[in-house]
Amino acid sequence: MKIGFLQFAPQFGNKKGNLDAVSKLTNNIDADVIVLPELFNTGYAFLNNVELSELAEPVDGETNEFMQSLANEMNCAFAYGFAERTGSAFYNSVSFVAASGITATYRKSHLFFEEKFLFKPGDTGLRTFDHGGVKYGMLICWDWIYPEAMRTLALQGAQIIIHPANLVTPYCPDAMVTRAIENRVFVVTADRTGDEIRNDKNFHFIGTSQIVAPNGDILTRAGEETCVRVVNIEPELALDKKMNRHNDLFLDRREDLYFT
Ligand code: ACM
Repeated sequence: MKIGFLQFAPQFGNKKGNLDAVSKLTNNIDADVIVLPELFNTGYAFLNNVELSELAEPVDGETNEFMQSLANEMNCAFAYGFAERTGSAFYNSVSFVAASGITATYRKSHLFFEEKFLFKPGDTGLRTFDHGGVKYGMLICWDWIYPEAMRTLALQGAQIIIHPANLVTPYCPDAMVTRAIENRVFVVTADRTGDEIRNDKNFHFIGTSQIVAPNGDILTRAGEETCVRVVNIEPELALDKKMNRHNDLFLDRREDLYFT
């Protein structure tokens, strides 16, 4: 199957411009699944809840309608990050939308920095879902730093981890190589680029989106350029947890020794 990421620099608050950018960048792209960054439609640096309230959407809001029609047009599924509004609560969420509609929505479990003042911690839990005969799990950005998060998805059989991000520290891309190896899964990190400087907030996003194979091979890694990268993968490889004749990664776990 062909899976990819789209990396660009969303403009804060310019939803139409950001959706247009995705439309242009995916023109003529041939893929089965494309992962977009965290909060790709709004940008990242919300100053307060008033701004968040103006830009957040329900799961089936205008961004979903846009992504759904792109999925239909391209016959491609998309995972995309957005600020979710439900009642008076906000979540930092990602939805996976295929031609058949929304397959899954995940709400970020581990909030980073001042996100804690804006969003509620995710309550969807770490669950897998199926699409096209392949099992997926989703994480959002800072979730990467908790090995338990990806392990929880991998133990449920996730073959591909979808990871929209807005990375501001340099550690994640290399750490994800280890996460892929220790779980023997594919990992697709779709990060953003650019800077957001708003009042006292000043973020530089590192790009470096990548796709890593279960053996740790970096199948593709971007720099800080705007790009769409697609690679061919065999998701079945992630079903084999054998490291060698005598070591099965999951069967050898010593659950009796671990704190839960
Ligand atoms: C992050 O979780 N956006 C760093």
